[in-house]
Amino acid sequence: MNDNLHQLRCFGCGARIDGAEAQPDFRCALCGDLFEVEYPGWGQRRGNDRPNPGALKWLWRERRCSSEALDQSGVWRFRELLPILQNFGNVVTLREGNTPLYHLPRTAKALGIDQIFAKHQGMNPTGSFKDTGMTAAMSVARERGFQWVACASTGNTSAAMAAYAARAGLRSLVLIPEGKIAWGKLSQAMDYGAVTCQLPVDYDGCLRLLTEIVKKAPIYLLNSVNPYRLEGQKTPAFEIAEAFDWNVPDHVIVPGGNLGNSSALGKGFRELHELGLIARMPRISVIQAEGANPLVRSFAASQGATLEPVEAHTRATAIRIGNPASWRKATRAIQDTGGWCLDVTEAEIAVAKAELGAEGLGCEPASAVTLAGLKKLHARGVVAPGETVVLVLTGHTLKDADYTIDFHRGTLLKEEETVGMEAKIDSLRRNAVAVEAAPAAVLATLKGRA
Ligand code: F0G
Repeated sequence: MNDNLHQLRCFGCGARIDGAEAQPDFRCALCGDLFEVEYPGWGQRRGNDRPNPGALKWLWRERRCSSEALDQSGVWRFRELLPILQNFGNVVTLREGNTPLYHLPRTAKALGIDQIFAKHQGMNPTGSFKDTGMTAAMSVARERGFQWVACASTGNTSAAMAAYAARAGLRSLVLIPEGKIAWGKLSQAMDYGAVTCQLPVDYDGCLRLLTEIVKKAPIYLLNSVNPYRLEGQKTPAFEIAEAFDWNVPDHVIVPGGNLGNSSALGKGFRELHELGLIARMPRISVIQAEGANPLVRSFAASQGATLEPVEAHTRATAIRIGNPASWRKATRAIQDTGGWCLDVTEAEIAVAKAELGAEGLGCEPASAVTLAGLKKLHARGVVAPGETVVLVLTGHTLKDADYTIDFHRGTLLKEEETVGMEAKIDSLRRNAVAVEAAPAAVLATLKGRA
């Protein structure tokens, strides 16, 4: 399993190239589609030459007790399944991954589904799931000798990239849509020393521009079109499988923006299945915001065969993306596993986020689409009471504190957005109250709040 032998396979036309031959924009020279990493050696192994699932599972768990940096990373402890480097000495790690899986008892009770869990990827070093992908792709950038790295971002990718670049001693360039990213994320990119350009275009425009820039200068592109990003982002699938003792949950529910994450988790579960480490795949469902739902429309119009970009609008700025790069890969993840793709409203996102908050699990708005989506799947009767569900929470609540405060103050949503949900919203709002500095006055605020 240890041979560092990988190649890139075009997702569209199937062309295979050496990793070092990829064009700067990671698009296939023949058909323009994206690549994915494959490991030809795995398929060729037969009989005793196949990896021993029991030995691998033991080794990966054992590494959690090690003091080696590589073993302490929740990505690189699975390194047998991501042999993308010539030399693991090039790994750039902040000890990402190994994130908690929390049971959600109140949500479970409310929905009548016992086993609902949140895999909280916001508990990564820079506060989002992007760290698992960034450690992988940044390590490749370092191994290939790049001095500069770059990404377009709705905020989290830039925060992760800037941190990992700083750790690696590389310079980083960030392109963000002006006024459309949360302050918490922008502050991170600044603090980690990125050159941050705010552009008067949306995320899709930023990515388009960056694609031209990397063709003109030796800058390594670190958006999720870079297939090595997805190699790191597949490892939460391994952690989820491990947490359930390799009997995977029935459903894994993921937010959809540029659709790299759902693609990566699909790849992770598929590889575990092909290698005989798990007996079946979970259903992977992707949830988008109603105003940024190109994949939902694609499923409605053509069963995921074609995708029309949309102009995206949602307060969940992380997923404000109208032209998702990895839509074909995500479509495969959904269709291979028998999952669903649906969208949720702004009010449903806000309510779900507050409900997760009430379980003691903050997250950013984009993450809350998972719970809002689960409620819809449950209402459609496609999640049975006895099934196990994992919601992938992608970002930390402090990334976008403004959103949370606006919700609790009652200034987040417009009246027309909340029709029929007013009582629910009122029951969840916890605005701060101004009180006289006297015990009786403070105690009086507790009345009626048992
Ligand atoms: N959740 C959060 C918190 C995100 O930051 C993103 C994407 C997603 C979900 C969607 O994941 O793009 O893989 O489908 N954020 C990107 C960024 C685009 O630039 O930080 P996806």
